[in-house]
Amino acid sequence: MRIDVLTLFPDTVNAVLHESIIGRAARKGIVEINCVQIRDYTENKQNQVDDYPYGGGYGCVMMAQPLKSCLEHVLAEAGERRRRVIYMSPQGQPYNQETAKRLNRDYDHLVLVCGHYEGVDERFIEACVDEEISLGDFVLTGGEIAAMAVADSVCRLVPGVLADEQCYIGESHWDGLLEYPQYTRPEDWEGRRVPEVLLNGDHARVERWRRKQQLLRTRSKRPDLFERFAPADPEDQKLLAEIEKEAGRRQIAEPVTFRPATEDDLPAILAMVEDARASLKKHGVDQWQGPYPAAEHFRFDMERGECFVVLHGEEIAAFFTLSTREEKSYAAITDGKWTEGMAYCVLHRCAVGKEWRGSGMAEQMLRCVEEQARAFSLRCVRTDTHRKNKAMQRLLRESGYRYRGNIEVLAEPGHDPARQAYEKILKK
Ligand SMILES: C[S@@+](CC[C@H](N)C(=O)[O-])C[C@H]1O[C@@H](n2cnc3c(N)ncnc32)[C@H](O)[C@@H]1O
Repeated sequence: MRIDVLTLFPDTVNAVLHESIIGRAARKGIVEINCVQIRDYTENKQNQVDDYPYGGGYGCVMMAQPLKSCLEHVLAEAGERRRRVIYMSPQGQPYNQETAKRLNRDYDHLVLVCGHYEGVDERFIEACVDEEISLGDFVLTGGEIAAMAVADSVCRLVPGVLADEQCYIGESHWDGLLEYPQYTRPEDWEGRRVPEVLLNGDHARVERWRRKQQLLRTRSKRPDLFERFAPADPEDQKLLAEIEKEAGRRQIAEPVTFRPATEDDLPAILAMVEDARASLKKHGVDQWQGPYPAAEHFRFDMERGECFVVLHGEEIAAFFTLSTREEKSYAAITDGKWTEGMAYCVLHRCAVGKEWRGSGMAEQMLRCVEEQARAFSLRCVRTDTHRKNKAMQRLLRESGYRYRGNIEVLAEPGHDPARQAYEKILKK
């Protein structure tokens, strides 16, 4: 790809386009970028490139002759190629990634003409320009910034400029969506953690999460793009259906905190238990299908300072019981084992208000559990869930818990006692 930028300020353009990735590609000969001084092609003694507009008005207009002479020189030097002469103009078509792809695909010589002052003589545009491109619906003093943007975005699509085509496939605007959020070290920065899914090395899950994030953030940041997005891939269609379903749910918009529960919180806690009971029943999970857990269990937890409510602003959104007492049923673990030699706490009864399901509140609740475990000076959290409770199992795995084996609980006589045991060791 050869790009010639016709400008009155070649040093400015050179300084930018010969730096960094594009500069390196130019030095390797993968792309050729020339900045050509229009003033060198004037035919008057003063090297004047502009003059007053016919009909009066403010400012000056760039004359057609120096522009055309400059262009002819560049075209003669470049020889026969698939070329496009483009005038950078606020009156052109707004530039986007599709145009960058088209320019890279259809041409191997771009001439980018930068106007200045009040613009250029219309007859030059009529006679010599193939296309006008605008950087957006605003007016710049000159076309240089727009030309640099076009040159940069086209060059990075030329094979060999970036390390791999994967570098730009999947980026914002590649297929009509914005890119997923990116994170780098450290894992915890000022209390903000990298999403757990990115730390587990499960590439299929990471890919799914990233695609969903692309859809979600396009939907929230650029509804206009989202509206135009037509999902052809069945996986995208599934994700969109999931997003649609989740959209009816509450969004976390306030700080999520937690505090020890009191007797006054009991009605809210019991209402969440009832909703959870109904949901477990619907999903065929024989857990919480009898009287357990009841008010007496929560009162017992509260007396020991082990029951907590999770708050969204002032409102109760979830609850959990975190006990430091030894759990007898955990001693007889089968098909695996717990981490030995660590004092632990046990996450027992917990639930999220039904309007918060799928909103990230369950993950927030587990974050509160970890905070409280640390407050107890414990780094090992153990818990268990029914083998059919897939939602809880997924939540635990995605939050960094590891399956450790099987146990049998004693709290729900007459119901399936088999439970899967999970454990998380918190970082120091
Ligand atoms: C001050 S502008 C002239 C604007 C012109 N009088 C008009 O109203 O259409 C000077 C030059 O800046 C460049 N320019 C200004 N805004 C631009 C934009 N949004 N996109 C691309 N080039 C732009 C053009 O090359 C233009 O000739």
